[in-house]
Amino acid sequence: MPAQPASARPPLFTWEFAADPYPAYAWLREHEPVHRTTLPSGVEAWLVTRYADARQALADSRLSKNPAHHSEQAHRTGRVGIPGERQADLMTHLLNIDPPDHTRLRRLVSKAFTPRRVAAFEPRVQQLTDRLIDGFAARGSADLIHEFAFPLPIYAICDLLGVPAEDQDDFRDWAGMMIRHGGGQRGGVGRAVKRMRAYLAELIHRKRADPGDDLISGLIRASDHGEHLTENEAAAMAFILLFAGFETTVNLIGNGVYALLRNPGQRALLQESIGRGESALLETGIEELLRYDGPVELATWRFATSPLTIGGVEIPVGDPVLVVLAAADRDPARFADENTLDLARADNPHLGFGHGIHYCIGAPLARLEGRAALTTLLSRLPDLRLAADPEELRWRGGLIMRGLRELPVEFTPESTSGATSADPSAVH
Ligand code: HEM
Repeated sequence: MPAQPASARPPLFTWEFAADPYPAYAWLREHEPVHRTTLPSGVEAWLVTRYADARQALADSRLSKNPAHHSEQAHRTGRVGIPGERQADLMTHLLNIDPPDHTRLRRLVSKAFTPRRVAAFEPRVQQLTDRLIDGFAARGSADLIHEFAFPLPIYAICDLLGVPAEDQDDFRDWAGMMIRHGGGQRGGVGRAVKRMRAYLAELIHRKRADPGDDLISGLIRASDHGEHLTENEAAAMAFILLFAGFETTVNLIGNGVYALLRNPGQRALLQESIGRGESALLETGIEELLRYDGPVELATWRFATSPLTIGGVEIPVGDPVLVVLAAADRDPARFADENTLDLARADNPHLGFGHGIHYCIGAPLARLEGRAALTTLLSRLPDLRLAADPEELRWRGGLIMRGLRELPVEFTPESTSGATSADPSAVH
């Protein structure tokens, strides 16, 4: 029998693809695991989709994070990287730099952003979680993205950084601009980033004069062999902590709750285990949600600084490489039953937080927020259910992140007697 011709590659970057990219990624993994594509912005880049290649690429020092190594000048026009960061002079952050600068800055931030600081933050995260749920629990319906998944991380990071309560709603607005327009209309994002930049400069100034127990004061204090962060480095660090820690966590909660609502058997197991006061399934479950439909679809930009081969394909110097974490984390060569959500999955070295020297520095905080969000939602609103046809839900169209625009849910209204406040503005 003649060999079957390979099926045609499903289109990438359409709205259908945004809703469910996994079939297209499965095709790429099988037929063209290292695939050169033209992105919607017009920039050409390589997509790396197999787990083994992805892990190797994420740890390869010949792939630089510095956009100056891009053969095109796309970063000058804002078609590569975080919109607005260049104009706002915020380029010197961890995701744009290589060793030795990266090593120095990462060591300094690690001194301030310690596991102890994150663990001590747990009661505050729980308080924020409860108060946000108080805002809609008596109503019997909510949009979980706007009313819960979006505000929780923004208030959490603001608190952690030391942004005073009265200024946090400004951050909420700027962050809203960034998330809404991340894929297009860069002018508005540029303005939001500039305002945030000006605010951070002023805040750093204030904290230098009057330090507190917050992360920005910690960043200012941190020193390494007598070296401190410059004012600009401190602002860029605060910015990247906010930027990297905000939409990602929104999507961990949004994609995570959505996956549970679509997999009732797994959701019931989790709910029962939370009801018994156990934490083991919740812990493996968060990792599985990160693997199954993680917030970061593509790792951030990398550029070849010398010729290299990935999966047998030669990558020319100056070419951008995008590691598709969502494809790698469903590679059947690494994960059994790759398309099945199995909250108890034990062998799960997913790449949802990246790998190598740029591995997510906020992973402990993200896990903490994910645990608080899922436990509290499932225990307080036990019959939580989707209030829309899954086909009608809209996904954001951005390149790097994967998340829902809205997540309408219904549930039996909670009696107001136990709630601490019904006013969402009372989160402070
Ligand atoms: C579920 C939530 C999160 C996910 C899925 C996530 C995922 C990631 C990934 C995949 C990377 C590596 C990117 C690359 O190599 O291209 C990364 C890096 C980073 N993340 Fe997260 N992140 C999350 C939450 C957070 C939080 C809460 C913070 C901080 C408050 C944070 C701060 C950072 C920073 C600063 C980096 C850059 C580290 C470096 O370059 O050394 N992330 N994150």
